[in-house]
Amino acid sequence: MLVVAGPASRSLASKLAGELKAGLVEVESKVFPDGESYVRLKASVEGEDVVVVQSCYPPQDKHLVELLLLIDAALDLGARRVVAAVPYLAYSRQDKRFLEGEAVSGRLVLRLMKAAGAQGVVTVDVHSEELLRQVDVRAVNVSAIPLLADHLASMGFRGSFVLSPDRKREPAAKLLAEILGGDHGYLEKTRDRVTGEVRTEVKGLPVEGRDVVIVDDIISTGGTIANAASIVKSQGARRVVAACTHAILAPGAVERMRSAGVEEVVGTDAVEGEVSKVTVAPALAKGVKELLG
Ligand code: R5P
Repeated sequence: MLVVAGPASRSLASKLAGELKAGLVEVESKVFPDGESYVRLKASVEGEDVVVVQSCYPPQDKHLVELLLLIDAALDLGARRVVAAVPYLAYSRQDKRFLEGEAVSGRLVLRLMKAAGAQGVVTVDVHSEELLRQVDVRAVNVSAIPLLADHLASMGFRGSFVLSPDRKREPAAKLLAEILGGDHGYLEKTRDRVTGEVRTEVKGLPVEGRDVVIVDDIISTGGTIANAASIVKSQGARRVVAACTHAILAPGAVERMRSAGVEEVVGTDAVEGEVSKVTVAPALAKGVKELLG
């Protein structure tokens, strides 16, 4: 088996190759002066099972095109089977048509991977599991929560209160709380579909004098976490940290969360960046083994 290191996930690919005891194929990449992407596999993949690792965090469209080019190139160069390991599945929040006339972007992203030749897709803590069932491609969603839990435990967060900022993510908060030996809860969040403004309903939580972990799948503007942090802080929480799988972090996000009382943000290398403190390689390896048997 060979692991192809997509330009968005070079360090993760190397860790995944280690987990799978597979060879690593490096990729040369560049952007032409007109903005088009170029990729070249730097070793042969002929006759091999190939895992193309490329997360599709911002700039999503560029990373997606590179991923599609790599899948197509690997097959064209004689790979036996190709699976795509895409920890952050771009556009997964647009898993349906919320307003009349919208594109169902997440579904198209999966269709494109299939059309490029991927036999399967492994992703991590996908925003919408339903999305994976909308396209006829084998898709495995693995969880980074146990890996985040190990890191939080090492930070001294055993027994803390784990909060999901919305109802949809409650199962992740429950799992994290179980591993950390604490309890959990969730908030009711609504987002204005046109302005993007987030409103969170305030309710009483058992956080007075306690450490709190706010856990979400994605942090983009930081608004959701900041709202949740203000609520638990106003109810007497001690240390507050945010944990997430995909720390997209739009400009100003970290400052917004800090101002609301968040001491630290713990993210993973699903999005390689300033807060990626935990690797998702072991989870991805499990998903790849499930797909390739
Ligand atoms: C949405 O439902 C997601 O689970 C996240 O809560 C959301 O994407 C976070 O976005 P932001 O950081 O911009 O509030």
